[in-house]
Amino acid sequence: MSFPNEQVETQGRSNLPPVVDPISALDRAISETPAAVAAVDSLEGLAMLESTLLGKESALGEVRRRMGQLDPVDRPKIGAKLNEAAEVINALLTARRAELEAEDEGRRVREESIDVTLQAITFPSGSLHLIQQTIDEVVDIFVALGYRVASGPEAELAWYNFDALNTPSTHPSRLESDTMYLDWGDPDDEVLLRTHTSPVQARWMEQHEPPVYIVVPGRSYRTDTIDATHLPVFHQIEGLAVDTDINFGDLRGTLLHFAREFFGPQSTVRMRPHFFPFTEPSAELDVSCFACDGGEPGCRVCGGSGWVELLGCGMVDPNVLEAVGYDPAQLTGFAFGMGVERLAMVRHGIETVRHFIDNDIRFLEQF
Ligand code: DAH
Repeated sequence: MSFPNEQVETQGRSNLPPVVDPISALDRAISETPAAVAAVDSLEGLAMLESTLLGKESALGEVRRRMGQLDPVDRPKIGAKLNEAAEVINALLTARRAELEAEDEGRRVREESIDVTLQAITFPSGSLHLIQQTIDEVVDIFVALGYRVASGPEAELAWYNFDALNTPSTHPSRLESDTMYLDWGDPDDEVLLRTHTSPVQARWMEQHEPPVYIVVPGRSYRTDTIDATHLPVFHQIEGLAVDTDINFGDLRGTLLHFAREFFGPQSTVRMRPHFFPFTEPSAELDVSCFACDGGEPGCRVCGGSGWVELLGCGMVDPNVLEAVGYDPAQLTGFAFGMGVERLAMVRHGIETVRHFIDNDIRFLEQF
């Protein structure tokens, strides 16, 4: 059996060399394939072998291409052999592919497996300072009530720190011995390190239309010598609510809610009359002692009184509203101011404020 070559040339269909005997060429392909497939040791190699064995340049490809030139009598037999060869070769390739894939998988499992019993490499992670944690917690309580967070400068004009807050120039807190001045002498032009966060009340109201519901966390400064309860730089959170119909009951209810969120749901509050220039009436707020349930002699938190002094508060003095251009005939409000160090000390039983600035890791990592 042979291809009629001369005819091919004359018809110009192909210039490929003749396949002298298609049947024996296909048989050879069948018999050589097992060894060739077995010799391949990678999936990439197998893909290349596949195109060598089955592609256009393979014996199968060549026979297939020349099918049309065959003597019609020979065609069925050669066609059958072609199918057989393709089936055998495909089956061998498929089987080898499965083997190589399994090997690959095994290798990957071996190489990529990790020993979960090994000691982990860990890095100590820092945390927010207790003061910042306390600020965040208090602010969250008020934000949940709809309050916005405001801030203002620490180097403040005496006007905002004192005058706008109804504090006369004769007030003792304005003395150089109490307040750190950056610029002192001309009462209209004095700059100081703010002694409380209250000036942000006036700054906010000057810039915003009522209603006002804000909390103001921030640093404050006083000429205090460091002892167990004083730092020259400390933190406060101011609160201010101004609206058309705010009364003292709103103030009490708001601070009771705060006390229960911060110290626990069993907390109660009481108010004692006090004086602040910027509120009238003014009060100090005590929270019931959460440590001793009231009146345990020598309690480490309340000392046995059953109450813990917490913050100053009151109804915004009409003079303050007037100073910022609000109409005291239309608007009322309440304000409060609390010391962050004090809140944290009461809640965690910390006996000296010095711990907050000592940077002692044994203290810091407890929170
Ligand atoms: N600013 C006061 C202080 O530093 C605290 C305070 C008291 C703030 C009463 C207020 C308030 O807003 O109404 O001692």
